[in-house]
Amino acid sequence: MKIGIIGGGSWGTTLAQVLHDNGHKTLIYDINESNVLKINDHIHPFFNLELPRDIKATTNLEEVINFSNYLLLAVPTAVIRDVLIDINKLLHKKTYFINVSKGIEPHTFNRISEIVNQEIDKKFYGGFTVLTGPSHAEETIQRKLTLLTAASLDEEFAYKVQQLFSNTTYMRVYRTNDLIGAEVGGAAKNAIAIVSGVATGLNLGENARAALITRGIVEIVKCVEALGGERETAFGLTGIGDLIVTASSENSRNFQAGKRIGQGVPLEKVFKESKMTIEGVRSIIALHEVAVDKGIELPIISTAYRVLFENLNIDDAITSLLTRDLKDEKSL
Ligand SMILES: NC(=O)c1ccc[n+]([C@@H]2O[C@H](COP(=O)([O-])OP(=O)(O)OC[C@H]3O[C@@H](n4cnc5c(N)ncnc54)[C@H](O)[C@@H]3O)[C@@H](O)[C@H]2O)c1
Repeated sequence: MKIGIIGGGSWGTTLAQVLHDNGHKTLIYDINESNVLKINDHIHPFFNLELPRDIKATTNLEEVINFSNYLLLAVPTAVIRDVLIDINKLLHKKTYFINVSKGIEPHTFNRISEIVNQEIDKKFYGGFTVLTGPSHAEETIQRKLTLLTAASLDEEFAYKVQQLFSNTTYMRVYRTNDLIGAEVGGAAKNAIAIVSGVATGLNLGENARAALITRGIVEIVKCVEALGGERETAFGLTGIGDLIVTASSENSRNFQAGKRIGQGVPLEKVFKESKMTIEGVRSIIALHEVAVDKGIELPIISTAYRVLFENLNIDDAITSLLTRDLKDEKSL
């Protein structure tokens, strides 16, 4: 198969290697010329590891669209709508979209599948699958064991994505038809990972971090259900699985960003100094807005929103969480 990869960053380039290992051809598109040059020099742009020689990259989007029937979206969610608008102008044949970016659009609460539906001309739209789950590119690039889930309303397409990415040495892909659950879980876990990082940066201790992660799971479930997904999905690879890999790992950009915020580094500086995408901040905005819109309580996510965007002091934030009404643990 020929797969065009939109975004040759840490995950997009890593998945190009997975596809190469599975016998498929890829061509990567990226706006960053230095990433493209590195890939064409057979070096992963973020990890400086050698890449298979036939993985190629270009700054020419049209070339990638002409090359493939499948487009893998691996750009930051902040640019995904604009990238899809550019793709749509160049499409001339039925194209299938596989998305690996994790986030929900602030203000609209749109998931990536909805943005694809809005921006891609129906006559060129083949289908949509999200491929998501616990995955650090740092490990997958070393061909370390990784399990993901392909979620789609089109079971045949989900099965196709399972076949494209699975192999018998390090990658196994499950499938589900709960597209909403998988998309929302992937976005919500990044919000909780930032909070877990903040707790670590503040040196609150492991008790506090375990508590935040556990109550964070409750908020992930609430987000998934509020937006129409299934509770079981939140407890699978795309929800808790991804939270486990993200919420206490130095490999996680979201956790690292939260840790630096907890250490007192201003948000703008944290963003400026990170070369890689930090999706959780946009997810905090979107999910806080979902909470207000749907009238549900997401105490951790909404408190994080107030700390990040309303200058709530962190000590006051902790006090506000501790002074909430005492609850039955089973009540959501
Ligand atoms: N890194 C991981 O381990 C990992 C794992 C699973 C999912 N993801 C998700 O994948 C998405 C991408 O993450 P990443 O870690 O690869 O980010 P990254 O910052 O490493 O890479 C993003 C790439 O997109 C490119 N880009 C930015 N704007 C573009 C545009 N307008 N057109 C074309 N290319 C553009 C950048 O130049 C960069 O190379 C995120 O949503 C992330 O949550 C990442």
